[in-house]
Amino acid sequence: MESGLDIVSVVGGSREETINRATFMTARELTPSGVHLTEIDIRDVPLYNADLEVDGDPPAVASLKAAVKAADGLLIFTPEYNRSVPAVTKNVVDWLSRPHRASALASKPAGIVAASPGHHTAAGVRDHLAISVGAVTDRLFEESLGLGEVRDAIDGGRFADQALRKQLSEWLDRFAEHIRSAAELASSQ
Ligand code: FNR
Repeated sequence: MESGLDIVSVVGGSREETINRATFMTARELTPSGVHLTEIDIRDVPLYNADLEVDGDPPAVASLKAAVKAADGLLIFTPEYNRSVPAVTKNVVDWLSRPHRASALASKPAGIVAASPGHHTAAGVRDHLAISVGAVTDRLFEESLGLGEVRDAIDGGRFADQALRKQLSEWLDRFAEHIRSAAELASSQ
């Protein structure tokens, strides 16, 4: 039997009805057996400022780092803004990248999912975020997932569209496999 995996998530959409949380909520239902997906609350994470690190991390940052450190992987759900990474999402990566070379995200398996209401699949944010996350961890799942036309697919805070559910479910299977492969590689080294 395969061992369980604990994956933590951040949702870079700040709106009450963000389609990226609906994507997270759907993903939580669709994770393969034994894989648990939880969300880290990032609402109190301040804008990155090195002065705030001097006396220790602010509580919300300390919680964020501890949760990522304890998890088997990090899964980021993010909108795309102006073909790139929203400040809220980038801010989380910037905090997690500190301290340099000893960060909670270093060598942590990570994945990127971007949901858009339009017919594009948010390639800009996925590519740009991959550069930043890939600068911190060498275990980024290179196959990010871009989902288009998501707003019309949501009902009751979850995906009702079967094709989108299948796409998300199959990607989650591959992401879990990526985490397991990374763990096997680490234990054989
Ligand atoms: C957007 N939106 C957007 N969508 C997209 O697919 N590509 C883009 O480049 C942009 N750019 C953009 C810039 C700004 C400032 C805003 C406010 C919006 C639309 C965006 O995908 C849409 O508002 C989503 O619903 C935002 O995600 P959440 O909040 O629903 O998760």
